Amino acid sequence: MLIIANWKAYVDTTEKAKKLFTSAKRLTQYADIALAMPHPYIGMCASGPKSKVSLAAQDVSISTGGADTGEVTASTLASLGVTYTIVGHSERRAKGEADEMILEKVKRLLAHNITPILCIGEKERDMDATYLNVVRAQITAVFSQLSQKERLSMVIAYEPVWAIGKTAAESIQPVELEEMVLYIRKVLGEYLPGKSASKVRVLYGGSAEPGNARALAGGSGVDGFLVGHASVDVPTFSALIKAVS
Ligand code: PGA
Repeated sequence: MLIIANWKAYVDTTEKAKKLFTSAKRLTQYADIALAMPHPYIGMCASGPKSKVSLAAQDVSISTGGADTGEVTASTLASLGVTYTIVGHSERRAKGEADEMILEKVKRLLAHNITPILCIGEKERDMDATYLNVVRAQITAVFSQLSQKERLSMVIAYEPVWAIGKTAAESIQPVELEEMVLYIRKVLGEYLPGKSASKVRVLYGGSAEPGNARALAGGSGVDGFLVGHASVDVPTFSALIKAVS
């Protein structure tokens, strides 16, 4: 399982960041762990001794560098040893980030050998299942513009917006997740021939907590989780990881 912690802006002191990073190192025996942290902490964690915890960023600029005040480029992230970067998170889409910009970000990351974690997910579910079209369009906007090799370098995080930042009880049900993972793989299959679509890792995010993670992992076909609020408390994150390992 690949577990990516999305610290969002919850972690706002170096003390908290250090504590979470140190405890994550002890959890690498149970799962592959990546920590998506605010940019300044990446440098801090990168400067310490090598560990099995992968460093991840929560966003990247489309800038290629130079006179571009305030931007953090993919080459900067690559120079720090960042392995993964989240793109298209719904909290950024809500601020106006459109598919075109998401595609640009994906391309910048791939050019620097950083694995994009492409977040997709509907705002709400309706009886007519138009939410499936939303998810299809989000995948298509990116995958239709990539080469076969680039497609295989992607990770998808299915994060229904209605399930983010809630509780395990309000999150997606295992059977709903299983259906969605099948659907996502079907759409991926339109861009990747034969069995290769199954090589793209599909994660779930949206109130994954110690209480529901095991049920969501079992049988749904997900390859891991993108974890928000449950990743910024040491005992909770550790319980979640042990539950799915
Ligand atoms: P959550 O966030 O686990 O707090 O719901 C997940 C995410 O938004 O990545």
